[in-house]
Amino acid sequence: MKTRIAVLCSGGGTNLQAVIDAVEAGTINGEIVLVISNASKAYALERARKHGIEAMFISKKEAGSAEAFNDAILAQLQRVGAELVVLAGYLPIVGAQVVQAYPHRIINIHPALIPSFCGVGMYGHHVHEAVLAYGAKISGATTHFVDEEVDHGGVIMQGSVPVMEDDTADTLAARVLTVEHRILPESVRLFCDGKLRVDGRRVHVL
Ligand code: GRF
Repeated sequence: MKTRIAVLCSGGGTNLQAVIDAVEAGTINGEIVLVISNASKAYALERARKHGIEAMFISKKEAGSAEAFNDAILAQLQRVGAELVVLAGYLPIVGAQVVQAYPHRIINIHPALIPSFCGVGMYGHHVHEAVLAYGAKISGATTHFVDEEVDHGGVIMQGSVPVMEDDTADTLAARVLTVEHRILPESVRLFCDGKLRVDGRRVHVL
């Protein structure tokens, strides 16, 4: 049985594309049944449509509150029977009602080595700027299960990259993105193959 996957995005969707490519290559035993973005012009929606995947914009503004916005998202996830939710470059905080409906069934990709450079406000370029400002020598990316705290759930996979002397936030972001494009599809593959076992804070890869 293929796992029914929903993907939430806010931006260009290169992580979404990596998951789409792995599904189409047969590497991931799953089917992407819905892509939702909180940004109407997110290119991620276009990527989904190009691959025949239902793509929808849900407006946080129109919803009126974070609670109503997350209720609307949850209703769509339940409509399509999503069994796994993937946050692929998704900026809004996932509401508690969504996390509670999908315990250890929401996977996020963060562009740093959690627990470093993560938490509220740490997204996109802010992360890489903080890494450079701190003078860290290694950075990378992390996939983890989403719980009710930001960037806090059990770590699934991590990959590291060197921070170069002449790095800018852009050059570091590009190097980290290559790791993201590897570990996100791999984490989704492991989930779909039933190879992730949660043991408290720990996630064992079987
Ligand atoms: C990237 O900076 C990535 O680190 C983070 O979201 C941003 C956009 O990713 N996860 P994508 O190209 O939209 O997948």
